[in-house]
Amino acid sequence: MSSASFETMYVQHFNEGARPIDYYLSKMNGYTALKKAFGMSKDDIIGEMKKSNLRGRGGAGFPTGMKWGFIPKDSPKAKYLVCNADESEPGTFKDRDIMRYTPHLLIEGMVIGGFTIGANTGYIYIRGEYTREAKLLDEAIDEAYAKGYLGKNILGSGFDFDLTVHRGAGAYICGEETGLLNSLEGKRGEPRVKPPFPAQAGAFGGPTIVNNVETLADVPFIINKGGEWFSNLGKLEKSGGTRLFSVSGHVNKPGVYELPSGAFTLRQIIYDVCGGVLDGKKLKAVIPGGSSAPVLTADEIDVIADIDPIMKAGSMLGSAAIMVVSEDYCVVQLLLRITKFYAHESCGQCTPCREGCRWMEDILHRIVHGHGKTQDLDLLIDITNNINGKTLCALGDAAAGPVASFVKKFRPDFEAYIRGEKHA
Ligand SMILES: Cc1cc2nc3c(=O)[nH]c(=O)nc-3n(C[C@H](O)[C@H](O)[C@H](O)COP(=O)(O)O)c2cc1C
Repeated sequence: MSSASFETMYVQHFNEGARPIDYYLSKMNGYTALKKAFGMSKDDIIGEMKKSNLRGRGGAGFPTGMKWGFIPKDSPKAKYLVCNADESEPGTFKDRDIMRYTPHLLIEGMVIGGFTIGANTGYIYIRGEYTREAKLLDEAIDEAYAKGYLGKNILGSGFDFDLTVHRGAGAYICGEETGLLNSLEGKRGEPRVKPPFPAQAGAFGGPTIVNNVETLADVPFIINKGGEWFSNLGKLEKSGGTRLFSVSGHVNKPGVYELPSGAFTLRQIIYDVCGGVLDGKKLKAVIPGGSSAPVLTADEIDVIADIDPIMKAGSMLGSAAIMVVSEDYCVVQLLLRITKFYAHESCGQCTPCREGCRWMEDILHRIVHGHGKTQDLDLLIDITNNINGKTLCALGDAAAGPVASFVKKFRPDFEAYIRGEKHA
């Protein structure tokens, strides 16, 4: 982690290895936000969340306060708060640090969230590969029960909240919120038709909020210090707080970096924060938001690394996972690797995704292995057009975006393979 000259929420505690509850209580104002929230009306809490300009950290950047406000107040059904800890987008590893080092931030955020939306049950759906983090979370949850921050009549408030860690089995699709809910219910992890959205009918048919780990861990800060304070940490109008960037690939200092939202360009993050490209090589490409984000060329990185500016630049900030590619690395083989992943992870429900992803993989495979044809590049673009927006969930788009952008921006690299000048 970087040490920084601006205000941060996580980094100093990550560096301390802050896991035990005693640290959280003594050094991080642990569970004081919960006490404060119990003294607030639910509308006031949602008001602070809206003021904070917190936008979901899971990928879509949806405003959290607005999402919480969608839960129907008059529903007789049990409501649920679900934490999406699937962290399955390649290149993303920041939720892991929260769960490892500051799990009580997540737990406190979830109790506050549950109280606000009227849910007495919460689940943390964690990716199967995170065995260590699942164990750490279980231990932290036990600590919270023992101190009365979970369970019945929390801190004498009359509010009950039970929290359970549910381990996934290693499927990317279970990061998609409705695939996750099906998996949580013991069904196949296949995304659902929307509407109804989870806020109307989610887990076990009840109104449900699904939020990312970082989103929920931000909540105690917002309640303690106020929505305005959080909003002002960010440098753009509609984007509050700090962001945890996972930086990987060919950089000198890969890792998790906490930076104010909207304050740094991609170039600054790569060169000033992360020490530049490995071995002093030239930059070839940057994937700014996890492997599903359309690729940017080395000439396109003077863009603020935040949700709206990156979208304007034709890509997406997604899970804020910046993947750096040096001139030495073959973008054609990289795209094949990415596409193979999405083809493997497609749940198969929607024909354009099931067939299209595999077809794109096959075409890229033959290009890389010296059997490509000139028409293949247009065919690839044609397939992406037949996937985009034509599936129940965004996995199809996640596969199509990289293919379309790599082929468009690095066409000569693909043509070199097709002419037989290169092959794997
Ligand atoms: C294929 C796919 C995979 C996803 N994987 C994750 C994930 O691993 N973690 C996550 O938080 N959100 C993931 N999402 C986004 C979730 O569907 C959902 O938008 C998010 O959990 C909402 O939380 P937020 O509002 O706090 O961002 C994924 C979406 C798609 C389409």
